[in-house]
Amino acid sequence: MNPTTDAGNTAGTPDARKTGPVSPFDFILFGGTGDLSMRKLLPALYFRHCEGQLPQDSRIVAVARAEHSAEEFREIMESEARSHISESDFHQVCWDQFLDMVHYRQVDVTEQADYRQLVDFVIDEPSRVRVFYLSTAPSLFNRICQGVHEAGLVTPGSRVALEKPLGRDLETAQEINDQLAKYFSESQIFRIDHYLGKETVQNLLALRFGNVLFEPLWRSEHISDVQITIAEKLGVEGRGKFYDQTGALRDMVQNHLLQLLVILAMEPPATNHPDAVRDEKIKVLRSLRQMTKTEILDNTVRGQYKAGAYADGAVPGYLDNDDIPDDSHTETYAAIRAEINSWRWSGVPFFLRTGKRLEDKITEIIINFKKVPHSVYETADGFSTPNQLVIRLQPQESIKFRVYVKAWGDDMHLQPVHLDMDFNDVFKKRQMIAYERLLMDIIRGDLTWFMRRDEVEAAWEWIDPIRNAWDQSSQPPKGYTAGSWGPAAASGLISREGLTWYEE
Ligand code: BG6
Repeated sequence: MNPTTDAGNTAGTPDARKTGPVSPFDFILFGGTGDLSMRKLLPALYFRHCEGQLPQDSRIVAVARAEHSAEEFREIMESEARSHISESDFHQVCWDQFLDMVHYRQVDVTEQADYRQLVDFVIDEPSRVRVFYLSTAPSLFNRICQGVHEAGLVTPGSRVALEKPLGRDLETAQEINDQLAKYFSESQIFRIDHYLGKETVQNLLALRFGNVLFEPLWRSEHISDVQITIAEKLGVEGRGKFYDQTGALRDMVQNHLLQLLVILAMEPPATNHPDAVRDEKIKVLRSLRQMTKTEILDNTVRGQYKAGAYADGAVPGYLDNDDIPDDSHTETYAAIRAEINSWRWSGVPFFLRTGKRLEDKITEIIINFKKVPHSVYETADGFSTPNQLVIRLQPQESIKFRVYVKAWGDDMHLQPVHLDMDFNDVFKKRQMIAYERLLMDIIRGDLTWFMRRDEVEAAWEWIDPIRNAWDQSSQPPKGYTAGSWGPAAASGLISREGLTWYEE
């Protein structure tokens, strides 16, 4: 079935209006009492309400197993919201209006009879946009889709939204996708990678395709290497059990890091239609060079943090967590040297790394340009990297471009300086959280920033051999001290090409 033209389906074709109110909708939030709902989803809807984007007759119904009256649920929501929304952004009048839209239903999603409550809830508005947001364990995805289908809740205006983990490997991802396809067409399925909702990630496309400056240089003739880092200070917190089954490769590389790589490397799409963009993205995923087992062991590093310290105190090691087995080999750090088989990127290494308990929380993309072919000038650093683009995605969105200029003085001596732009200074307003944008896109039916089935599966196809090689290796992950930049071997991975990780 063509993902964008299924008959009668209102999702999949973007609504050009991006700033005004969306049409009235019903938002059915499964896992409504869970952490993601409280921390991100409900606050995101609140912010959009304050910006005047949610028509007051829209309805949000949180669905969970616990017994709560609507009033009790709203009280829980308010106390949670106060810890997740800053005081200056919490406006009581706006919040109270928002609460009027919020309802609660106690539903055991494994009991078909319980779906009747949802039918009664939405029955008077059959033609509305209806969102089923699955903020639940993946093991419930299929049951809920089947439940809403059998209850007759799936209308042409329905969409289903779900979030990773979308499988543990290609096979399990295909199973999830096959199950979804039984009840929803591809254009009704919104697979979320919250990184794609981040302002800066979307800005990468604007930077590349909204300017003439970069695109001619954006290729192997001019770029020596690309580095993408997602570093976190946090450990596994209360998620040890989940994390130990997952590891950094599945948790961060298969999705967030690969999505960043794809957006950096893709060709310009012909239009801004969701499938024009996603068609270009999938080409990059399919062009990632598959490595042999030996190459994988040579081009990757996995690590696991040990006890260490930050300025505000000591932190335990990964294996010191109560819910982690003492002999766990799960990686909390991954570094990979990837290559893309294409004319544009031939020979350019893409260095990817991510880790928990690293020195700082930073997401950053570094594009190192090649040296000038022939220089007659002296420089302070021997033209190590004359031009470098540093795109910081978080914590503070900024772009820095390093160029050589003549240092003031009577000789012709060159020195690097940075053209520096901090977006907070430029836009001077609250930066939206990723979910605000994604939720509005789901309601509008714009699939641009959501992963298509083939994208998820192509990402697993590249990740699975790495996972298998690591699992079959007798070597444990390399240890690194919490608060450092990761295992020494990761420096070795990049230094053998005469490069260093950008850490400034
Ligand atoms: C999630 C991972 O997808 O992304 C977490 O499961 C990780 O382990 C988080 O901490 C990082 O997201 P952000 O937006 O804080 O960079």
